[in-house]
Amino acid sequence: MQTLRRKDILGLEEMSAEEITLILETARSMREIMQRKIKKVPTLRGRTVLNLFYEPSTRTKASFELAQKYMSADSVSVAGTSSSLVKGETLKDTVRNVEVMGIECVIMRHPVSGSAYYLARNVEASVINAGDGMHEHPTQGLLDMFTILDKKGRLEELKVTIVGDIRHSRVARSNIWGLQKMGAEVVVSGPPTLMPPDLEAFGIKYCPCLEDAVDGADVVMALRLQKERQEGGLFPTLREYAEIYGLTSQSIAKAKDDLLIMHPGPINRGVEISSELADSNRSVVLEQVTGGVAIRMALLYLLMGGVKEE
Ligand code: CP
Repeated sequence: MQTLRRKDILGLEEMSAEEITLILETARSMREIMQRKIKKVPTLRGRTVLNLFYEPSTRTKASFELAQKYMSADSVSVAGTSSSLVKGETLKDTVRNVEVMGIECVIMRHPVSGSAYYLARNVEASVINAGDGMHEHPTQGLLDMFTILDKKGRLEELKVTIVGDIRHSRVARSNIWGLQKMGAEVVVSGPPTLMPPDLEAFGIKYCPCLEDAVDGADVVMALRLQKERQEGGLFPTLREYAEIYGLTSQSIAKAKDDLLIMHPGPINRGVEISSELADSNRSVVLEQVTGGVAIRMALLYLLMGGVKEE
């Protein structure tokens, strides 16, 4: 029997390669359920989940809600802007109040880094981090690895180039931690002003020239410019950013022919990536989204559904 021996999913920095492998393998079984005509299993019947989103989301929120429906869980969704947060209620009080209604698992997106850890320490329910500030977005990192594994058949020894606003990106952090644990080589590129001050601590290579960063790459992942988290003046204009760091056919010319092009979404077309590339047959942007449902089903199953029979 294999289980995920943890109460919460907070980040990939703290997760082992064995745990990541178990989640990716479980997601493969979950995708098989998604491909059925009747996409419903009774696994989480009678189990209760709260979706608590204090920041906007399309992909993460919709895929968690769909995963809950496919698994027959009972769920409620609360948006920060329409919750009693606006009347001054704290995060801890909010979740303790819904916990006494019987909630067993909280999916939370929050603008403050570390908020998921804080919540997990203060409630008995399982907490799944759906993005905490500039810290981590572990389910995105997992779905990105799931997509790469699906297309390439392995993660070890692949060169994955992540381009753009590394400094403010929780997606970048989760991918950097996760991909390295799984044996991939991670290279980052983007303006020096958009690199984290503690870049060296990640043990990855920084290559300021995009063309060189993608030389020989198996995967290139463009990140959204996190304008809502940036202070001003980090790069001159969007036009100049796009000219130097936007993914185009020319800028990725040195990558491998079977390059995978990824973006977590939402995409700023013509800024981080050209429409031509985003819609090309090398782009797996929509496969990432589909994989997101399978990953979130797997996490709910592994945290709430008990054990997986071997
Ligand atoms: N990739 C991602 O987190 O997208 P959403 O913000 O739409 O959830």
